[in-house]
Amino acid sequence: MRINWRLKAILPVAGVLLGGVFIFIWVTLSLQGPERQKVILVAAGGAVAICGVTLVMLAVLFQRPLEELHQKIAQLRDGDLNVTASFAGRNDEIGDLGRNFNEMVRQLRESREKLHEAHRTQMSRAEHLATLGELAAGLAHEIRNPLAGIAGVIEVIGRDLPENSPAREVWKEVQQEMRHIQRILNDLLDYARPRLPDIRPADLNTTAEHAVKLARQQVLSRPIEIDLITAPDLPPVEHDSGQMQQVLLNLLLNAIQAIESSGRIDLQLQSRDNCAVVTVTDTGRGIDPGQLPNIFRPFFTTKGKGTGLGLSLAQRIVQAHNGRIEVASTRGTGTRFSVWLPLRKPEPVAAYSK
Ligand SMILES: Nc1ncnc2c1ncn2[C@@H]1O[C@H](COP(=O)(O)OP(=O)(O)OP(=O)(O)O)[C@@H](O)[C@H]1O
Ligand SMILES: [Mg+2]
Repeated sequence: MRINWRLKAILPVAGVLLGGVFIFIWVTLSLQGPERQKVILVAAGGAVAICGVTLVMLAVLFQRPLEELHQKIAQLRDGDLNVTASFAGRNDEIGDLGRNFNEMVRQLRESREKLHEAHRTQMSRAEHLATLGELAAGLAHEIRNPLAGIAGVIEVIGRDLPENSPAREVWKEVQQEMRHIQRILNDLLDYARPRLPDIRPADLNTTAEHAVKLARQQVLSRPIEIDLITAPDLPPVEHDSGQMQQVLLNLLLNAIQAIESSGRIDLQLQSRDNCAVVTVTDTGRGIDPGQLPNIFRPFFTTKGKGTGLGLSLAQRIVQAHNGRIEVASTRGTGTRFSVWLPLRKPEPVAAYSK
C-alpha cells in the first residue's frame, strides 16, 4: 500500500500526542496518591520512548535519503555517472525521487556514451581527411610543375600555328582547360598548406577590379554581363590583396557557373556598419535550401568538374581577415554572397592644448 510521506511523518507524532493526552486525562480523573505517580512515570517514559522512535523513524524515512541524495549529486558533479539512489525501491514520494534520480543518471550516462562515440568517429574521420589532404597536396605539388612545362610548350606550339588554322580553336580550348587544372591544383595546395595573409591597408576597389577583369576573361564568348560598382569613397581596407582577389574570383566563377545561358553578375562595394562589404549577386540557378548548410564544407560540390574547395578556401581567407561571408539564395532566381571585412577602427583623436 502506498502511504503519503506527510502521513508517515504525522502519524507517529499524532500518536504520541493523543496517547499523552489520553493518559493525562485518565490519570487526573481516576487515580490518587502513589498509584497516580507510578502511572504518570510510566506515561512519561512511554512518551519519551515514542518520541525517540518517532525521531528514529523520521531519520530513517527522510533524513537518510536526503543526505544520500546530497552525496550522490556531489559524486555526479565530479563526473561519476555510476551512482544510484538506494532508496529508489520505496513505495512513496521519496522512492519516486530516487527512481527519477536513477533515470536521470541513466540518461546522462547514455548521452555521454553517444557523445564519446560521436567524438571518436569525428576524430577518426579527421585523421582520415588529414591523411587524404596530405596525399592530395603531395600529388598536386607533383603535377603542378610538369603541367607548367606542358602549358609552356602548348603556348609555343600555338604561337607557331597559322592565323587561319582550324587548330587555333582547339589550342584556345586546351589553354583554357590547362588554366582550369592549374586553378584546381592551386586551390588544393592553398587549402592543404594555408599561408598567413599579408594584411596591409590597400584599395579594395582595385582588388575587386582585378578579380572582375580575370572573371570577364572567362565569359568573353558568353552572354554574361559582369558589372563592377565600386565605392570611390571607401577608405583603405586592411587586406591581403592577392588572397582577397582569389576570394572574389572564386565567388565570381561560382556565379558564372551558376548561369546556364545568359545572365548578369553584379559585384558591388559598399561601406556599412564599420565594415567594407563586397556583394556578388548573380541571376543564376540559385542554391537548394537543403544544400545551403553544406556549401562551405571542403570538397562539397554539385558540379561534375568542381573540387568543392572554392568556398571553403574563401571562407578561411575571409575569417583570417576577421571578416565573414554571408549567403542568400533563391532557387531559380539567383544568389548573393556578401563578404564583410572590418574597416580599421578610427584612430582616437589626439587631445591638443592651445
Ligand atoms: N553562386 C552560386 N550559385 C549557385 N550555387 C552555388 C553558387 N556558389 C556556390 N554554389 C554551390 O556551392 C557548391 C560549392 O562551391 P565551391 O566553390 O566550394 O565548389 P565548386 O564551385 O563546386 O568547385 P571549385 O570551386 O573547387 O571548382 C557548388 O558546387 C554549388 O553547388
Ligand atoms: Mg567554386
